[in-house]
Amino acid sequence: MSSLFRTKSIEQSMHDTDEPGQRLRKNLSAVDLTVFGVGVIIGTGIFVLTGQQAARNAGPAIVLSFALAGVVCALAALCYAEFASTVPVAGSAYTFSYATLGQFIAWIIGWDLCLELALGAAVVSRGWSAYLQDLLNLPTWLAGDKAVPDWGAIFVVVALTVVSILGAKLSGRVTGTLVVVKVAVVLFVIGLGLFFVKAANYQPFIPPAETAERQSGADAPLLQILVGMTPQHFGWFGIVAAASIVFFAYIGFDVVATTAEETRRPQRDVPWGIIGSLVICAVLYMATSFVVTGMVKYTDLDTAAPLAKAFDVVGQGWAADLIALGAVCGITSVILVLLLGQSRVSFAMARDGLLPPVLAKVHPRFGTPWVMSTITGVIVAVLAGFVPLSELSELTSIGTLFAFVVVSLGVVVLRRKRPDLPRAFRVPGVPWLPLASVLASLWLMLNLPVVTWVRFLIWMVAGLVLYLVYGMRRATLADPRPDTPSTPAPRA
Ligand code: ALA
Repeated sequence: MSSLFRTKSIEQSMHDTDEPGQRLRKNLSAVDLTVFGVGVIIGTGIFVLTGQQAARNAGPAIVLSFALAGVVCALAALCYAEFASTVPVAGSAYTFSYATLGQFIAWIIGWDLCLELALGAAVVSRGWSAYLQDLLNLPTWLAGDKAVPDWGAIFVVVALTVVSILGAKLSGRVTGTLVVVKVAVVLFVIGLGLFFVKAANYQPFIPPAETAERQSGADAPLLQILVGMTPQHFGWFGIVAAASIVFFAYIGFDVVATTAEETRRPQRDVPWGIIGSLVICAVLYMATSFVVTGMVKYTDLDTAAPLAKAFDVVGQGWAADLIALGAVCGITSVILVLLLGQSRVSFAMARDGLLPPVLAKVHPRFGTPWVMSTITGVIVAVLAGFVPLSELSELTSIGTLFAFVVVSLGVVVLRRKRPDLPRAFRVPGVPWLPLASVLASLWLMLNLPVVTWVRFLIWMVAGLVLYLVYGMRRATLADPRPDTPSTPAPRA
């Protein structure tokens, strides 16, 4: 039992990063981290979900949904910032949990992060494929939302898996370029779109609540079922329901924390990177959703590529092509970083003995965790090829929100357990702000559909079984310093 709650000390985690052959090069600055953050955050969320949720749940008030989701993320971002400035080690929420709440919770979070990273990558590649189909006018059986299997999504996952195995150096440079393209496209949408905004499209700004007739109980937000409401779209409940779904668009700022080990002055720069990238994206998201719902009536936005569609509708087809091109380029960096993040977390778990050590094998020439990357790539490609997008994105959101809950609690625990640790960034108002973050994340979780909860619970039970059958036994047998010299870290 005691192994369930055994923590990996901060000192030990930090010491591991200094082991010869496991030292990552520290050359990232606050600006690099912000660019990296924006690179991971802006993806299919803004390019796909904006239209879908405006049409189904919020109307033009989708801008309020983005604001609400942004506030929840800001609370969690402050907690991640304190953690990363205290424990600047790769592995993000998994490492944090191991340091504070013990091995069992760390396993649960590592398992849960698969929903954010692997599933997230699958969702995003679906969006990539939809834009590619739109851009090249590909047959609908080949790529896009209607294609089963979605060959476009499978192709991009396989290609980026190969890139991630071949090394991070080139992909880092490519990511930087793609971020510029992506932000330019979003600014372009806002700038040009403003000229086509019609005030009439904002009427009604918050469409009146309507009973969701065609919706089964499983598709209704859990909260509505718990309080015995008839499932509804639109109105204030719709805004919150949409917030919990467009929350997906913000996923990624927490991935910045995984680069703490590679940052020159992590204590100062990681908080800047996390909070800076989140603020930039929140502003861009609110502006974009405001403009797009002003260009086209929200009822017409339920498509796989709503931003491009908005420009098509106002007779600017050429702009639609440019947006699709930007989206395809920009979303590529998201997939790549999510795939890298997934292999890094699973690698850390395998190194700690919670997954079979063979998964922590590093390629002798490329210095990357190629076994883990290959397995991740295959699983993500299958998911991306065969499972519908929206169902995946909600599961990704619930998984990420759960990680937020645990990290926010972890901040409070670590303040109590280790008040002595130097903290370059301190969350103001502990324990109240972290607790507000816990409640806000739980609140968005409760607004996700019942079916998402059921899938989430099934996933977590599967993780629990795996832990009992494998991880607990192995980790119990494992040396208290679980990482063995035979498994050096991947090269930066
Ligand atoms: N935030 C990322 C996206 O929207 C995952 O694609």
